[in-house]
Amino acid sequence: MEDLMADEPIVVAEALRKRFGATQALDGLDLAVPAGTVCGVLGPNGAGKTTAVRILATLADADSGRARVAGHDVAAEPDRVRARIGLAGQYAAVDEKLTGRGNLRMFGRLYHLSRRDARARADELLERFGLTDAADRQVAGYSGGMRRRLDLIASLILRPQVLFLDEPTTGLDPRSRGEIWDAVRGLVADGTTVLLTTQYLDEADRLADDIAVVDHGRVIATGTPDELKSSIGDRLDVVLEDPESAPGAAAVLHRLSGAYPELEGDRLSAALTRGTVRLADAVRELDRAGVAVGDVALRRPTLDEVFLRLTGRPAEAAAGEADPGGGSGHESGSEREAAGARRKETVR
Ligand SMILES: Nc1ncnc2c1ncn2[C@@H]1O[C@H](COP(=O)(O)OP(=O)(O)OP(=O)(O)O)[C@@H](O)[C@H]1O
Ligand SMILES: [Mg+2]
Repeated sequence: MEDLMADEPIVVAEALRKRFGATQALDGLDLAVPAGTVCGVLGPNGAGKTTAVRILATLADADSGRARVAGHDVAAEPDRVRARIGLAGQYAAVDEKLTGRGNLRMFGRLYHLSRRDARARADELLERFGLTDAADRQVAGYSGGMRRRLDLIASLILRPQVLFLDEPTTGLDPRSRGEIWDAVRGLVADGTTVLLTTQYLDEADRLADDIAVVDHGRVIATGTPDELKSSIGDRLDVVLEDPESAPGAAAVLHRLSGAYPELEGDRLSAALTRGTVRLADAVRELDRAGVAVGDVALRRPTLDEVFLRLTGRPAEAAAGEADPGGGSGHESGSEREAAGARRKETVR
């Protein structure tokens, strides 16, 4: 921290550009992360998240633009930056044949800790992150969640000021994701700044103080989860008693909101982009049109809806579009089914 000027964000990226052949992976990316916060970099496959993290972590050079991490320029002073950061990559870097404890000791030695310090730090971290029971088993027998946790722990050996986590929970089951989230919260409570990339809107929603939505190599929106949600206005939801009444109800909602509502099961939902609508007016107008409703409610949009509005496509479709080879290959069958069941249609 001693290297930071007062009020200087601990991670700053300005107009970063990076091209791979014909692909403009970063196209003027800006970021500013205040010390002690969690910044969620949210974007679909191919948005440029890993490229940005690699540049900030001094593993790759930008074509142009500049970045400072913990008060040091990543291009001019990479060693100073490296001494102050930790990185857990998109793919776990632990050695299968070693035990969890063995891996951590090995990393400690790689980071030039003495044998004794490497042992002590490994024990301390295993204890702290609840891996003591599994510590002396070979990593080959670990679950995906335990591997990720170990990988995250390995990135903490040198007590980094800034921790970069590239998709820390992709492919994990909900319980393992929860464990990683708890670990991240614990670190932040200790004052570590965390920049994490994710394709999961709920992850950004739960963990991040600020979110940078990245698409096509640039930041297209920033704000707290609440600010992002407020920026697109509330939603009016109507649960229909009779699905046949959807067209009539949709016409009422369109008249009130100016938006074309979406139908999902028996629920119609309209974005209130023109300003708010009084619930009483909605109930009265629906009644006048002869629509029987189970429930009418105003609610904040989900981050999913924010993402859809910002990028013009849902997070999942966007992910598929950038990677025609069948998505990330990480999501489970049940996640895919859940995505299918959530399919919406717009009623005009
Ligand atoms: N080493 C490379 N060589 C060629 N193209 C690359 C390389 N690294 C990244 N790209 C391309 O740059 C773009 C951004 O990739 P990047 O890995 O940064 O995206 P991402 O947001 O991390 O995606 P994902 O969610 O799939 O991890 C993609 O189109 C990718 O194919
Ligand atoms: Mg990536």
